[in-house]
Amino acid sequence: EYRGIIFDLDGVIVDTAKFHYLAWRKLANDLGFDISLEQNEQLKGVSRVHSLEQILGWGDKTVSKPDFEALMVTKNEDYLARISGMSEEDLLPGVKKVLDFLTENGIPFSLGSASKNARPILKSLNIYDRFAAIVDGNDVQKAKPDPEVFLIASEKLSIKPEKCIVFEDSVAGIEAARRAKMLSVGIGEQEVLKDADHIFADFTQIEIDFIKKIVTK
Ligand code: G6P
Ligand code: MG
Repeated sequence: EYRGIIFDLDGVIVDTAKFHYLAWRKLANDLGFDISLEQNEQLKGVSRVHSLEQILGWGDKTVSKPDFEALMVTKNEDYLARISGMSEEDLLPGVKKVLDFLTENGIPFSLGSASKNARPILKSLNIYDRFAAIVDGNDVQKAKPDPEVFLIASEKLSIKPEKCIVFEDSVAGIEAARRAKMLSVGIGEQEVLKDADHIFADFTQIEIDFIKKIVTK
């Protein structure tokens, strides 16, 4: 009964989630505190601005507006340096198989990511042209868990939200999918993503049969 698919990017298609964490952690360390892996779960899927607000709150820091902007630039430069040289080989295991199946079967898919770096990343992974639509951090006003990014993606696919499936690795993204009335597939740990409709550790655990079962043309 589902007709279209929306993929999150970081931590779903490519393992950039760990580089976001390392870059934020360096920023926090430079300010004199640390971020735990548990805290990092709350940053996944969350926009750059909200992530920094959250982190400064954890470290009990207040900064001026210009300093806030400068910190975001520094983090992004650090992050981009960490992911430079990315290529097709950096697609997470099992992802290519699923994208190939969808393409071969004419099942449309879109990106629904909070990242402002999404387009160049998809280009380095050599999969940019395969998406029927791309919606990223440059296209939305409201960050996940708000459903806006997924609702725009469904509109661009011309598929009703109730007919869309979302693949997500973040708590905020699973919540956004729920609010958009979409079926959610969590990629990651059961304990973290417990609210997802289906959960898999990674794409190697997803059989093409599972996709066939939930998607109809
Ligand atoms: C994704 C990641 C977040 C990241 C956000 C913004 O949702 O999961 O960790 O902060 O995108 O990414 P950007 O590349 O624009 O800083
Ligand atoms: Mg993600």
